[in-house]
Amino acid sequence: MSLSLIVFSLLFLSGAHSTAMDPYKFLHIILNPNGTITRLEKHPETPATPDPNSHLPVLSKDLTINPSRNTWARIYLPHQALNHSSSSSFTQLPIIVFYHGGGFIFYAANSTYFHDFCVQLVQRTQSVVVSVNYHLAPEHRLPAAYDDALEALHWIRTTEDKWLTRFADYSNCYLMGESAGGNIAYNVGLRAAAEVDQLEPVKIKGLILVQPFFGGVKRTSSEERLANDTNLPQPVTDLMWELSLPVGADRDHKYSNPTVDKGSKGFDHITRLGWKVIVFGCYGDPLIDRQIDLAKSLQKHHAHVEGHFQGEDKHGVFVGQPTKGKAIELYDTIKTLFITTQN
Ligand SMILES: *[C@@H]1O[C@H](CO)[C@@H](O)[C@H](O)[C@H]1NC(C)=O
Ligand SMILES: *[C@@H]1O[C@H](CO)[C@@H](O)[C@H](O)[C@H]1NC(C)=O
Ligand SMILES: *[C@@H]1O[C@H](CO)[C@@H](O)[C@H](O)[C@H]1NC(C)=O
Ligand SMILES: *[C@@H]1O[C@H](CO)[C@@H](O)[C@H](O)[C@H]1NC(C)=O
Repeated sequence: MSLSLIVFSLLFLSGAHSTAMDPYKFLHIILNPNGTITRLEKHPETPATPDPNSHLPVLSKDLTINPSRNTWARIYLPHQALNHSSSSSFTQLPIIVFYHGGGFIFYAANSTYFHDFCVQLVQRTQSVVVSVNYHLAPEHRLPAAYDDALEALHWIRTTEDKWLTRFADYSNCYLMGESAGGNIAYNVGLRAAAEVDQLEPVKIKGLILVQPFFGGVKRTSSEERLANDTNLPQPVTDLMWELSLPVGADRDHKYSNPTVDKGSKGFDHITRLGWKVIVFGCYGDPLIDRQIDLAKSLQKHHAHVEGHFQGEDKHGVFVGQPTKGKAIELYDTIKTLFITTQN
């Protein structure tokens, strides 16, 4: 075969590939016969930085939540808080429980991608962040991640760790997540809203949902409009749901589609408790219509919801560019949220 023919074949094959896009190839995963996946791409990880003598503006450390289930969290603290804790003007900081993204199948609390974001979040909002390492699908399908997420809240209220007991204001707690983590924050928020007494002294004040990942069988118009988005193609989100929802469930499951559950009861809890819900989305993200729909449904149930739907940016812009404009808007909104929900 001549070189030019080889080149032609390669071009032809790659052209054919782009029309029938293979979500496994896109995600660099292989589905194993036993239902697990092999993740061919290793996402970079960053070690925690607990040293109080370092010059870092934000310190972090990893703590075990439940050794029998192998769950843990990375805790972040503004270094300033540690240095000034003996001053008389010292006040405890709001606490953000953060759930990372990755379609329920990727990343960990120590992934560099999310670590770098959490450092900015902590530095710019002056809060204590607990980034929860939850079990991933398909090895652990939903609701495993929700169980871990809720367990983390109970752990926070009982741990004797000084970074939390000393520096965090338990009565000023927020659940936050990005993408799949936004879905987790929402779903664990519904669960937590139904058992607030059991979470004392942790008191949730709001949910911060950053481009949360929701789905449904019927396509929305943004999903149709952006079906060929190269950042988050439709076959990829479909596969993520297939790998993470309970076996046999379709995308109209209540975990993926909050509007099918006549979610009113959960919504009513959120309304009654006076939680503030902020939802961030951008028009270059195929998921935006579902994010807007959720905000509207909450509004219909008279919840305090604030939708921030702006710009043509794509899915992942807030975490992917943690020092740029969209992320800065997010931190500023969170700072305002801290002030307006204080009592
Ligand atoms: C499933 O299969 C993969 C690949 O063959 C293997 O590495 C893994 O250990 C298996 N896991 C279980 C739980 O059997
Ligand atoms: C990240 O966490 C995993 C356990 O989930 C651990 O095996 C790995 O060593 C950690 N990496 C770093 C750099 O902390
Ligand atoms: C905190 O104090 C340590 C020394 O104990 C110092 O190295 C560090 O720069 C200080 N950091 C901040 C943010 O104040
Ligand atoms: C997406 O790509 C397919 C195949 O190339 C094409 O048929 C379809 O019209 C495209 N859809 C949009 C919304 O661009």
